Amino acid sequence: MGDLLRKSTEILKKYQARTGAFPAAPYFPPYRYVWLRDGTFVAWALDWVGEREAAGSFYTFMSHTVLKHSYKIENALERASKGHSPDDATCLHTRYTLDGEEGVEPWGNFQLDGYGTFLWGLAHHLRVGGKLREEYKKAICEISRYLCGLWKVPCLDCWEERGDRLHPSTLAAVYGGLKAVLEWLPPDLAEKAREVLVELPQVVRAGFVVDGHLVKESGSPEVDANLLWLAVPYGLLDIEDPVFAATVQKIEKDLRGGGVKRYRGDTFYGGGEWVLLAAWLAWYYRLKGKEEEGKELLGWIEAQADEEGQLPEQVPVNLTSEEHYRYWVERWGPIARPLLWSHAMYIAARLPAPVPVVSCSLHQNQKVC
Ligand code: BGC
Repeated sequence: MGDLLRKSTEILKKYQARTGAFPAAPYFPPYRYVWLRDGTFVAWALDWVGEREAAGSFYTFMSHTVLKHSYKIENALERASKGHSPDDATCLHTRYTLDGEEGVEPWGNFQLDGYGTFLWGLAHHLRVGGKLREEYKKAICEISRYLCGLWKVPCLDCWEERGDRLHPSTLAAVYGGLKAVLEWLPPDLAEKAREVLVELPQVVRAGFVVDGHLVKESGSPEVDANLLWLAVPYGLLDIEDPVFAATVQKIEKDLRGGGVKRYRGDTFYGGGEWVLLAAWLAWYYRLKGKEEEGKELLGWIEAQADEEGQLPEQVPVNLTSEEHYRYWVERWGPIARPLLWSHAMYIAARLPAPVPVVSCSLHQNQKVC
């Protein structure tokens, strides 16, 4: 279904709000918010298909939203300096309403990966011709200050779980974001960011490698498919690094079916296979020149689209727990469809030439390139 590429672009544009925000999933009530993580991947994919204006209005909306809430940053940094995690009142939230307000119902809001991803996506937008607006410069500085001060504080991971741990995927997003925006930071902040960029990979190597592969969080022997982020796209590890290769092997062994599960033991909607993670692995295969393996995954994704070309968040096969599947359907309704992030990752994995990543091998005391 070669058509799904065009259809995916149409779907992403169709659901962009007038404000520039992208809801995570327009018909799934808990996801009628804009997440920095999902939204940035959507804008980034649109940049890859030349939809510069749609991407730009997302970055403008999000920059204004972050700046409106940036009064919280001082408190968050102060709490962190005393060894406390920021709470909902002090942290920058992980998701906002489509008008740029904080959500009212309780949510696990302290998540740093979306802020790193936002910097990384915005930098890409600027490099491919997006205009450097005043609010972008300010948002880049505020977010960088926030990440430089908080990256060592445990927070929820990109699945909004395990807030008492550090997660290599989150650290990779912080790394990728700070590295991408160095050139737009004032000298003192750039200096601070450089120090983080040297220390952070050492923390990952020292704390999160077990049996030669990365693990999803401190204290766990398990992999998570989000560990693909370490090389693709954030370049904390080189794609050829043996630790990364061993991590991918374990992801293939433990999490691969037709699609890809998040992690063993996942029970959200029973813990099925995720479209966006299948696309991520396909992207990796294409970068490695494994076109056949990539095609197989893309074929699986295409088979999950409904008649309108809409992709779901996950597919309830190979479940960890049938009971949890029923529980979530009863609680929140059927699995979200379309999930905009699924379409964004499909676009990235499916473009004629594989989307390149920043590649940078890690050595002790390496200077940032
Ligand atoms: C996922 C997040 C995602 C959010 C919106 C959550 O269930 O765990 O990764 O950002 O949904 O799509």
